[in-house]
Amino acid sequence: MDTLKGRDLLSLADLTVDELLYLLDLAAKLKSGMVKLQRNKVLGLLFSKASTRTRVSFSVAMYQLGGQVIDLNPNVTQVSRGEPLVDTARVLDRYLDILAIRTFEHKDLETFAEYAKIPVINALTDLEHPCQVLADLMTVQECFGSLSGLTLAYFGDGNNMANSLLLGCAMVGMNVRIATPTDYQPNGEIVEQAKAIADGKTEVIITTDATSAMQDVQVVYTDVWASMGQEEEARMRIPIFQPYQVNEKLMELAAKDAIVLHCLPAHRDEEITDAVIEGPQSRVWDEAENRMHVQKALLATLLGSD
Ligand code: CP
Ligand code: NVA
Repeated sequence: MDTLKGRDLLSLADLTVDELLYLLDLAAKLKSGMVKLQRNKVLGLLFSKASTRTRVSFSVAMYQLGGQVIDLNPNVTQVSRGEPLVDTARVLDRYLDILAIRTFEHKDLETFAEYAKIPVINALTDLEHPCQVLADLMTVQECFGSLSGLTLAYFGDGNNMANSLLLGCAMVGMNVRIATPTDYQPNGEIVEQAKAIADGKTEVIITTDATSAMQDVQVVYTDVWASMGQEEEARMRIPIFQPYQVNEKLMELAAKDAIVLHCLPAHRDEEITDAVIEGPQSRVWDEAENRMHVQKALLATLLGSD
């Protein structure tokens, strides 16, 4: 799709619905072995936070496309010594073809995208995790054959995952319910954005009631109660988030054919019990695999063909 060539992906809302569905379709084709080569293209990974899935899936996707990867850990670049982002962005722009960034402040990602002309991909910020949600939607589509009309309920912290799920579900015509403690709701602007996209045709529900959120849903989602950068609050949060734990009792309220997703890494017996994540409804390993396929589609499309 030529409209994507050269673009940034900082938020799911940067895609049109047609573009998002095109990426899911291309990912499915790539998964079945149709590979579009990106010889001599170089992807930079500038990650200020830890990562297993995103780092490895982006790297393998780029290698399988025929391209190269440079791991730009801030500790071994001048970024950790305070070189301004705007300078780093303009320099990396001269070397790389595409850049995936994992950082804390979403505005740092936006600054990078403003100063680097090459495509910049959000590999997770405190605000959003769009690549994860592309893989989540691909997994839901594989399980149910379509997306529109299904209901996803998310339980836990109103974090980057909750924000991106709100956008992603609204865009593909899925109902979305976010159940969080009162003081941990998702980003207000993103909630409004999702409601505007849904336009009254599908549910966008923000609630503190985990029981009502779980009623008859097809997709159950959870994430850690304390995200990267919030480690000091982790212990204090446990009793606050306990009513939102995805366990066998809460799962009884979901649809009989419901699947369970988690972006991983998971904290067993905190946000999800061992029985549920290891149980028959869990699709977390397929979900993790799909990161690679959907990011391959994204890389191939943002780089375009020469
Ligand atoms: N889900 C996810 O983004 O995992 P990593 O933090 O391991 O990349
Ligand atoms: N909300 C989590 C997601 C990890 C993939 C975090 O930001 O740490």
